[in-house]
Parts: sequence; C-alpha cells; structure tokens
Amino acid sequence: MKKEILEALKQNKGKFISGEELSIKIGVTRTAIWKHIKQMKEDGYDIDAVSRRGYRLIQEPDTLELNELQIDMKTRLIGSNLIYYPSIDSTNNEAKKEAAAGAPEGTVIIADEQTGGRGRLGRQWVSPKGTGIWMSIILKPELEPAEAAKITQLTAASVATALRNVTGCEAGIKWPNDIIINKKKVCGILTEMSAELNSVNHIIVGMGINVNVDPEEFPEEVRSIATSVKESVGHEIYRKEIVLEILRIFEDLYLDFIRRKSIDKSVEICRKYSVTLGNQVRIISKDKVVYAEAVDLTEDGELLIRNEAGEIEKIISGEVSVRGVSDYI
Ligand code: BTN
Repeated sequence: MKKEILEALKQNKGKFISGEELSIKIGVTRTAIWKHIKQMKEDGYDIDAVSRRGYRLIQEPDTLELNELQIDMKTRLIGSNLIYYPSIDSTNNEAKKEAAAGAPEGTVIIADEQTGGRGRLGRQWVSPKGTGIWMSIILKPELEPAEAAKITQLTAASVATALRNVTGCEAGIKWPNDIIINKKKVCGILTEMSAELNSVNHIIVGMGINVNVDPEEFPEEVRSIATSVKESVGHEIYRKEIVLEILRIFEDLYLDFIRRKSIDKSVEICRKYSVTLGNQVRIISKDKVVYAEAVDLTEDGELLIRNEAGEIEKIISGEVSVRGVSDYI
C-alpha cells in the first residue's frame, strides 16, 4: 500500500491531497493512510500533514528501496525482477545464488550497504551505507565464455553515459572496467560468470559507484585514486536517478547486442569516452610489466596496443592490469 500512497503523493508533488481522497483512491481507511504516512516520515520522506488540507509531499529521501525505483522504472527486461537489501555482504554473491536458484535474466540486486563488497583480483570494495550504488545484474545470454568481457564494455558504456546524462560530469572509461572522473576512479565493474566449456550459464555484472561517498570513507590505500560523483559536481546527487538511467541505457545496449550479436554501439561509446586510448600504458601481468601505447579497441572491445617493438598486440582484459606510465590513468 505504501507504493500506492507514494504514487498518489508524487502525482500531486508540492500540492495537498486530502486523507479522504487518498483513502477513496486506495480503498483503505483514513487511519490506515495516516499510519503509513507516519511510517514514511520516519523513513525520511518530507511530508506536510495539515488538518483539513491533507498531505503534501515536499521531498523524497535518497533511497533505493523498491517502491521508489519501481514507480519510475521504464525498462522491460533489466530490473523487471528487482531485489533490494538494506545491507548485504555482496550483491554479486547474492546474484550468484539467485541465478543458480533460477532467477530470470534481467534480475537486479541492489543494496544500500555491502559488508563484504568484492573488487577485481580479490580486492575489497568498500561500500558504505546510503552513499553509493552497489548493484548486480543477472544475464543469461547465449555466449561463448570468452565473450563475457563484452558485457564489461557494455556496462562501462552504460555507466559513463548515465553519469554524464544525469550529472553533467565528464565521466571517462579506463579500459576495461573503471569509470573515471578527474583522473580518479568513481566506479568499478566486476563481471563474473558460471560457464560450461562452450557456453555461459549466467553472467553477473556488478558495479560499485561512489555517488555521495566522502573522501575519508575510502580506505587509506586508495584515497589518492578514488573519488565520488559528489566530489566532482560539488553537491549530493540522488542515487535513484543514476540507477534508473544506467538500467535504461544498459537495456538498450544489451537488447541491441543480443539482436545483432555485436557490441559495436558500446565499443563506440567506450572509444569516445576512453581515458586510455592514445596514452602510454603499463600492462601488468602476473610475472611482468610491459610498456606500450594504447592504440584502439577492436569491435569486440579488446584493447589494441603498440608494443616496444612497434607491433600491434591484442590484450585480453581478464589477465592483466592496465595503468598509466607513472600513475593510475
Ligand atoms: C573493481 O574495480 O575492482 C570492481 C569493483 C566492483 C564492486 C561492485 S559493488 C556491487 C558488486 N558487488 C560486489 O561485491 N562487487 C561489485
């Protein structure tokens, strides 16, 4: 019922709607309406309650709860099954369990806080409460396991475009899976899969976006290379707007990829916003560091480099870290 009340208040945002009108519209007593509104105020909704005039929504809180997301969600596949946790160890872990238990393609797991967020290469991903987007999407495409990295490119394209559209910031893409603002990392992407020899069972793509995270919340060791959207634009941003925009763009790119079996649209975006291409980079693998120039992306989103001998080589993302010559970018 909270969803119906919220919907009615939002339709009249800034204007009063009487308790009687709400109770008729939703089909419950005025006392029930009052109780729900009281709960919503406790949850952070700024609602005026004035006798003989009714209720007026002034401002929603920055929440990612289901009601808030579902009311404004425009997608048909990505997010059609939406699961929200106030706190969870890792949305990627949860997505894996859900996928194994048969959750449909497009399921989105989102949390307000992660207590065991994971990054690439076994690193920790700090995910404080109420300040970031910690979200995983379950996909079940017909792909060869080696093609899973395409989903990382598609996600990077979606997140960078969404951040630009919603906040006007100049989000860039550091190949293959970091989103950058002002030369610092604002988002990381962790793509994991369950696969047979020749086919993917499911892919989990997790993204962690530091939206309103304050610098002191980052672990000491990444403080110099981590940033938040808030730090870049100078004020807090509603996380919901960013989530909805990511899901909308992701769905467009993903459905196009499935239909045409090509991620050229995503790759075009990755090229356009790349902070890697044209730069000297270090390719760091388990046993060596190689210096090269990042030249281009292939149509499948792999990185082409010119090595020290002047030859063009293709880099496979899962096996290496790519860094600037002297710093992170
Ligand atoms: C990286 O840059 O190392 C990748 C970070 C990925 C973090 C996200 S937050 C949501 C999802 N759940 C996790 O445990 N990790 C990913």
